[in-house]
Amino acid sequence: MSEAASKARHVAIIMDGNGRWAKKRHLPRAVGHQRGVEAVRSVSRAARAMGLEALTLYAFSTENWRRPEDEVSALMGLLKHFIQSDLEEFVRDNVRLKIIGEWRMLAPDIVALIDNALERTAANTGPALVVALNYGSQDEIARAAAKAAAKGAVSVESIEAELDTAGLPPLDLLIRTSGEVRLSNFLLWQAAYAEMMFVDTLWPDFTPAHLEEALKDFAGRERRYGGR
Ligand code: IPE
Ligand code: IPE
Ligand code: MG
Repeated sequence: MSEAASKARHVAIIMDGNGRWAKKRHLPRAVGHQRGVEAVRSVSRAARAMGLEALTLYAFSTENWRRPEDEVSALMGLLKHFIQSDLEEFVRDNVRLKIIGEWRMLAPDIVALIDNALERTAANTGPALVVALNYGSQDEIARAAAKAAAKGAVSVESIEAELDTAGLPPLDLLIRTSGEVRLSNFLLWQAAYAEMMFVDTLWPDFTPAHLEEALKDFAGRERRYGGR
Protein backbone atom coordinates (compact mmCIF):
# COMPACT_ATOMS: atom_id res chain seq x y z
CA MET A 1 0.00 0.00 0.00
CA SER A 2 1.43 3.39 -0.94
CA GLU A 3 2.20 6.12 1.57
CA ALA A 4 -0.22 8.54 -0.06
CA ALA A 5 -3.11 6.08 0.17
CA SER A 6 -2.72 5.72 3.91
CA LYS A 7 -2.63 9.40 4.80
CA ALA A 8 -5.88 10.54 6.38
CA ARG A 9 -7.59 13.47 4.68
CA HIS A 10 -10.73 13.73 6.79
CA VAL A 11 -10.94 12.93 10.49
CA ALA A 12 -14.02 13.26 12.67
CA ILE A 13 -14.12 13.27 16.45
CA ILE A 14 -16.91 12.54 18.92
CA MET A 15 -15.63 14.78 21.69
CA ASP A 16 -16.92 12.92 24.72
CA GLY A 17 -16.06 12.92 28.42
CA ASN A 18 -16.19 16.58 29.49
CA GLY A 19 -18.61 15.77 32.29
CA ARG A 20 -16.53 12.90 33.66
CA TRP A 21 -13.38 15.03 33.42
CA ALA A 22 -15.03 17.64 35.66
CA LYS A 23 -16.56 15.07 38.01
CA LYS A 24 -13.18 13.47 38.66
CA ARG A 25 -11.97 16.89 39.84
CA HIS A 26 -15.13 17.78 41.81
CA LEU A 27 -15.72 20.67 39.41
CA PRO A 28 -18.97 21.78 37.76
CA ARG A 29 -19.68 20.11 34.39
CA ALA A 30 -19.47 23.55 32.75
CA VAL A 31 -15.77 23.68 33.64
CA GLY A 32 -15.32 20.39 31.80
CA HIS A 33 -16.98 21.88 28.74
CA GLN A 34 -14.77 24.96 29.05
CA ARG A 35 -11.68 22.76 29.05
CA GLY A 36 -13.21 20.89 26.15
CA VAL A 37 -13.21 24.10 24.12
CA GLU A 38 -9.50 24.51 24.85
CA ALA A 39 -8.93 21.02 23.50
CA VAL A 40 -10.92 21.97 20.38
CA ARG A 41 -8.57 24.90 19.85
CA SER A 42 -5.32 22.98 20.26
CA VAL A 43 -6.44 19.87 18.38
CA SER A 44 -7.92 21.79 15.44
CA ARG A 45 -4.75 23.88 15.10
CA ALA A 46 -2.69 20.70 15.19
CA ALA A 47 -4.93 19.03 12.58
CA ARG A 48 -4.20 21.91 10.21
CA ALA A 49 -0.47 21.73 10.95
CA MET A 50 -0.53 17.97 10.29
CA GLY A 51 -2.01 18.58 6.85
CA LEU A 52 -5.53 17.24 7.36
CA GLU A 53 -7.94 18.54 4.74
CA ALA A 54 -10.95 18.34 7.03
CA LEU A 55 -11.64 17.94 10.74
CA THR A 56 -15.25 17.37 11.76
CA LEU A 57 -16.15 17.85 15.43
CA TYR A 58 -19.35 16.71 17.13
CA ALA A 59 -20.18 19.67 19.37
CA PHE A 60 -23.93 19.37 20.03
CA SER A 61 -26.31 16.61 19.04
CA THR A 62 -30.04 16.71 18.38
CA GLU A 63 -30.30 14.54 21.52
CA ASN A 64 -28.27 16.92 23.72
CA TRP A 65 -31.40 19.09 24.17
CA ARG A 66 -32.43 16.43 26.69
CA ARG A 67 -29.82 17.76 29.12
CA PRO A 68 -30.74 20.12 31.97
CA GLU A 69 -31.40 23.67 30.83
CA ASP A 70 -28.43 25.13 32.67
CA GLU A 71 -26.03 22.74 30.94
CA VAL A 72 -27.53 23.47 27.52
CA SER A 73 -27.20 27.18 28.12
CA ALA A 74 -23.61 26.80 29.34
CA LEU A 75 -22.80 24.92 26.11
CA MET A 76 -24.50 27.57 23.98
CA GLY A 77 -22.62 30.32 25.85
CA LEU A 78 -19.30 28.58 25.19
CA LEU A 79 -20.20 28.17 21.54
CA LYS A 80 -20.94 31.89 21.20
CA HIS A 81 -17.72 32.80 22.93
CA PHE A 82 -15.73 30.38 20.77
CA ILE A 83 -17.05 31.81 17.50
CA GLN A 84 -16.36 35.35 18.67
CA SER A 85 -12.89 34.69 19.99
CA ASP A 86 -11.59 32.43 17.21
CA LEU A 87 -13.12 33.91 14.07
CA GLU A 88 -10.15 36.20 13.32
CA GLU A 89 -7.83 33.20 13.50
CA PHE A 90 -9.98 31.30 10.99
CA VAL A 91 -10.00 34.30 8.66
CA ARG A 92 -6.21 34.73 8.97
CA ASP A 93 -5.36 31.03 8.69
CA ASN A 94 -7.49 30.45 5.59
CA VAL A 95 -9.75 28.00 7.47
CA ARG A 96 -12.89 26.94 5.64
CA LEU A 97 -15.51 26.95 8.36
CA LYS A 98 -18.50 24.67 7.80
CA ILE A 99 -21.41 23.89 10.08
CA ILE A 100 -23.41 20.69 9.73
CA GLY A 101 -26.73 19.90 11.38
CA GLU A 102 -29.84 21.99 11.88
CA TRP A 103 -27.91 25.01 13.18
CA ARG A 104 -30.46 27.50 11.84
CA MET A 105 -32.79 26.26 14.58
CA LEU A 106 -30.43 27.50 17.30
CA ALA A 107 -31.08 30.82 19.10
CA PRO A 108 -31.19 33.84 16.74
CA ASP A 109 -28.07 35.47 18.25
CA ILE A 110 -26.04 32.30 17.62
CA VAL A 111 -27.44 31.95 14.10
CA ALA A 112 -26.38 35.55 13.41
CA LEU A 113 -22.86 34.90 14.73
CA ILE A 114 -22.54 31.78 12.60
CA ASP A 115 -23.88 33.54 9.51
CA ASN A 116 -21.26 36.24 9.98
CA ALA A 117 -18.48 33.69 10.57
CA LEU A 118 -19.45 31.76 7.43
CA GLU A 119 -19.54 34.96 5.41
CA ARG A 120 -16.14 36.12 6.71
CA THR A 121 -14.53 32.76 5.86
CA ALA A 122 -16.46 32.06 2.64
CA ALA A 123 -13.51 32.91 0.37
CA ASN A 124 -11.06 30.76 2.34
CA THR A 125 -9.53 27.84 0.49
CA GLY A 126 -7.57 26.04 3.23
CA PRO A 127 -8.40 23.12 5.51
CA ALA A 128 -12.02 22.68 6.57
CA LEU A 129 -13.09 22.92 10.18
CA VAL A 130 -16.53 21.35 10.32
CA VAL A 131 -18.60 21.78 13.46
CA ALA A 132 -21.67 19.60 14.02
CA LEU A 133 -24.30 21.68 15.79
CA ASN A 134 -27.79 20.46 16.54
CA TYR A 135 -26.64 17.55 14.43
CA GLY A 136 -28.21 14.12 14.21
CA SER A 137 -27.18 11.73 11.49
CA GLN A 138 -30.62 10.17 11.08
CA ASP A 139 -32.09 13.65 10.68
CA GLU A 140 -29.38 14.53 8.14
CA ILE A 141 -30.06 11.40 6.08
CA ALA A 142 -33.83 11.96 6.18
CA ARG A 143 -33.39 15.57 5.03
CA ALA A 144 -31.01 14.51 2.27
CA ALA A 145 -33.33 11.74 1.07
CA ALA A 146 -36.27 14.16 0.98
CA LYS A 147 -34.25 16.66 -1.07
CA ALA A 148 -33.06 13.93 -3.43
CA ALA A 149 -36.65 12.70 -3.86
CA ALA A 150 -37.88 16.23 -4.58
CA LYS A 151 -35.29 16.51 -7.36
CA GLY A 152 -36.18 13.13 -8.88
CA ALA A 153 -34.19 9.96 -8.38
CA VAL A 154 -33.34 8.55 -4.97
CA SER A 155 -30.02 6.74 -5.10
CA VAL A 156 -26.89 6.41 -3.00
CA GLU A 157 -25.28 9.13 -5.10
CA SER A 158 -28.25 11.51 -5.03
CA ILE A 159 -28.63 11.19 -1.26
CA GLU A 160 -24.90 11.63 -0.73
CA ALA A 161 -24.96 14.82 -2.78
CA GLU A 162 -27.55 16.30 -0.40
CA LEU A 163 -25.86 15.37 2.88
CA ASP A 164 -24.59 18.24 5.03
CA THR A 165 -21.07 16.93 4.42
CA ALA A 166 -21.33 17.13 0.60
CA GLY A 167 -18.15 18.53 -0.87
CA LEU A 168 -15.87 17.31 1.91
CA PRO A 169 -13.32 14.54 1.33
CA PRO A 170 -14.61 11.07 2.28
CA LEU A 171 -14.39 10.32 5.99
CA ASP A 172 -11.22 8.35 6.72
CA LEU A 173 -11.10 8.09 10.48
CA LEU A 174 -13.65 8.48 13.24
CA ILE A 175 -12.35 8.88 16.78
CA ARG A 176 -14.43 8.77 19.95
CA THR A 177 -12.91 9.77 23.25
CA SER A 178 -13.92 8.78 26.80
CA GLY A 179 -14.13 5.02 26.35
CA GLU A 180 -17.72 4.83 25.08
CA VAL A 181 -18.02 2.54 22.08
CA ARG A 182 -20.98 3.88 20.11
CA LEU A 183 -21.68 6.45 17.40
CA SER A 184 -24.49 8.36 19.17
CA ASN A 185 -26.12 9.37 15.88
CA PHE A 186 -22.96 10.84 14.34
CA LEU A 187 -22.00 10.48 10.64
CA LEU A 188 -23.75 7.11 10.26
CA TRP A 189 -23.75 7.32 6.48
CA GLN A 190 -20.25 8.77 6.15
CA ALA A 191 -18.79 6.13 8.47
CA ALA A 192 -19.70 3.29 6.10
CA TYR A 193 -16.03 2.58 5.37
CA ALA A 194 -14.28 4.88 7.81
CA GLU A 195 -11.77 3.45 10.23
CA MET A 196 -12.88 3.67 13.87
CA MET A 197 -10.86 4.47 16.93
CA PHE A 198 -12.22 4.44 20.46
CA VAL A 199 -9.83 5.89 23.03
CA ASP A 200 -10.19 6.07 26.81
CA THR A 201 -8.82 9.61 27.07
CA LEU A 202 -11.46 12.10 28.19
CA TRP A 203 -11.91 14.91 25.64
CA PRO A 204 -10.37 17.74 27.75
CA ASP A 205 -7.23 15.58 28.10
CA PHE A 206 -6.99 14.90 24.34
CA THR A 207 -3.91 16.63 22.94
CA PRO A 208 -2.22 17.09 19.55
CA ALA A 209 0.03 14.17 20.55
CA HIS A 210 -3.06 11.93 20.80
CA LEU A 211 -4.13 13.04 17.33
CA GLU A 212 -0.68 12.36 15.96
CA GLU A 213 -0.76 8.89 17.49
CA ALA A 214 -4.19 8.22 15.96
CA LEU A 215 -2.98 9.30 12.51
CA LYS A 216 0.02 7.00 12.82
CA ASP A 217 -2.24 4.09 13.78
CA PHE A 218 -4.51 4.94 10.84
CA ALA A 219 -1.57 4.97 8.41
CA GLY A 220 -0.81 1.37 9.34
CA ARG A 221 -4.31 0.07 8.72
CA GLU A 222 -5.27 -1.79 5.60
CA ARG A 223 -8.51 -0.57 4.05
CA ARG A 224 -10.33 -2.98 1.82
CA TYR A 225 -13.74 -1.57 0.94
CA GLY A 226 -15.08 -5.06 0.56
CA GLY A 227 -12.50 -6.09 -2.01
CA ARG A 228 -9.49 -8.30 -1.55
C1 IPE B 1 -19.17 15.78 25.65
O1 IPE B 1 -19.00 15.57 27.02
C2 IPE B 1 -19.69 17.15 25.35
C3 IPE B 1 -21.05 17.18 24.78
C4 IPE B 1 -21.83 16.16 24.61
C5 IPE B 1 -21.56 18.47 24.39
P1 IPE B 1 -20.18 15.04 27.94
O2 IPE B 1 -20.87 16.22 28.55
O3 IPE B 1 -21.05 14.11 27.21
O4 IPE B 1 -19.34 14.29 29.06
P2 IPE B 1 -19.72 12.93 29.78
O5 IPE B 1 -19.98 11.91 28.72
O6 IPE B 1 -20.92 13.20 30.61
O7 IPE B 1 -18.51 12.61 30.59
C1 IPE C 1 -22.21 12.56 21.82
O1 IPE C 1 -21.95 12.48 23.17
C2 IPE C 1 -22.51 13.98 21.43
C3 IPE C 1 -21.36 14.90 21.42
C4 IPE C 1 -20.14 14.59 21.72
C5 IPE C 1 -21.69 16.24 21.02
P1 IPE C 1 -23.07 12.15 24.25
O2 IPE C 1 -22.40 12.15 25.56
O3 IPE C 1 -24.22 13.10 24.08
O4 IPE C 1 -23.54 10.71 23.81
P2 IPE C 1 -24.22 9.55 24.66
O5 IPE C 1 -25.45 10.13 25.29
O6 IPE C 1 -23.23 9.12 25.70
O7 IPE C 1 -24.50 8.47 23.68
MG1 MG D 1 -21.03 12.09 26.98
